[in-house]
Amino acid sequence: MGKCNTCGEWNSFVEEIITKEPSNSITHIISIDKAKPILLEDVENIHLKRIETNDSEFNRVLGGGIVPGSMVLIGGDPGIGKSTLLIQIAMQTLGKKILYISGEESEQQIKMRAQRIGGENNLVYVFTETNVETILQQADQIKPDILIIDSIQTVQTARAESVMGSVSQIRETANILQQYAKKKNVPTFLIGHITKEGYIAGPKILEHIVDTVLQFEGDRNYNYRILRTLKNRFGSGAELGIYEMRGEGLRPVSNPSEILITSRDEPVSGVAIAATMEGQRALLIEVQALVSASVFGTPQRSSNGFDGKRLSMILAVLDKRCGFTFSTKDVFLNIAGGIKVEDPAVDLAVVAALLSSFQDLPIGDDVCFSGEVGLSGEIRAVNKIDQRILEAEKLGYKRIFISKYNQKTTYTNNIKVELVKKVEEIFSKLFMENVLN
Ligand code: TYD
Ligand code: MG
Repeated sequence: MGKCNTCGEWNSFVEEIITKEPSNSITHIISIDKAKPILLEDVENIHLKRIETNDSEFNRVLGGGIVPGSMVLIGGDPGIGKSTLLIQIAMQTLGKKILYISGEESEQQIKMRAQRIGGENNLVYVFTETNVETILQQADQIKPDILIIDSIQTVQTARAESVMGSVSQIRETANILQQYAKKKNVPTFLIGHITKEGYIAGPKILEHIVDTVLQFEGDRNYNYRILRTLKNRFGSGAELGIYEMRGEGLRPVSNPSEILITSRDEPVSGVAIAATMEGQRALLIEVQALVSASVFGTPQRSSNGFDGKRLSMILAVLDKRCGFTFSTKDVFLNIAGGIKVEDPAVDLAVVAALLSSFQDLPIGDDVCFSGEVGLSGEIRAVNKIDQRILEAEKLGYKRIFISKYNQKTTYTNNIKVELVKKVEEIFSKLFMENVLN
């Protein structure tokens, strides 16, 4: 077949031969017990005694440490720092025996990297092997506390006869590793490459097999890296950890708001601060907008870190409800620090930044925003408003704009909470009051 009926891609079919009988059996390692149903009541409580690493960001994204027997997939673009992150966790989790399998680098390369990073764990074993049966035989001898596979695309099994890195190889090896992890209660980390379509290991098969999926992302031009939870059977599925890539490895950033907000000597127009939530954590980020007269017939719209369609929607709302004509203007929007946000509460800061740039009037540097904008221009309530306000207060903000429909329950006295109902009110509250006073 030349064309796939499902996705419409050409030449994406590959022949794969699947053998039924495992030619090199590993059943002596993973002997499957004769299982029969048991009463839920009788199931023994497994002790979810998590292994805490001394990397607070890593613990956070896993939901509080490494769960024994769990399988975690870490995906990310090449060169983003996946190997660095895991060798660093290995080197710094003292007292734990770690087996680091690499199918990509030599022992010397791993050693050089480990030396660069530092860390005192002297129980880290490295093994450059790609055959999963051999890997598990060694694992059975060493009995590691944590197993790391770098990467799942470079391991293979004799059970599937297709080439390394193919779909059936990945599925088969992941299944074997999964059984091993569960059986021996060894937490296993799989590193996975992202294809250019953005999938980990091509199709989504792996994401279903593993317990936790983490994504390591970041703009290669910036030093900041974000470790995001995409799925977690043992914790929140929307956590976020932030790192800074340095010469000596990754440094966890425990107070991200400070790095995400540019400090300036004097206020500039087009900048607004948003109080967002990423998972369980409140984060203040800087939204930058530039609105300028368009030279061409079709005005340009460009957005970095914020959904382009959402930007168009907000521009249309401002046009219709507030009478600001953006149709003859080029609009550029940027979230500082190269991070991507999905929290709808950023909308209000986007509105403020756009208006500020449109009128070339700066917003005070002690003001921040948190609210979603609806199609009729109404400001909608957002979740966890108290936590957002508290974080803003903690960072020294004096005024926060939120939706009138948000129920605030905590009492704050160092920050003034401004309730707004419609986008129209933002402009007058921000820029007219000073003029009138
Ligand atoms: P790497 O972990 O090899 O990426 P991946 O496994 O995701 O492909 O990271 C490679 C990049 O990280 C490389 O460009 C060099 C940089 N780096 C540092 O900046 N500092 C360091 O201490 C290390 C080990 C790597
Ligand atoms: Mg690597």
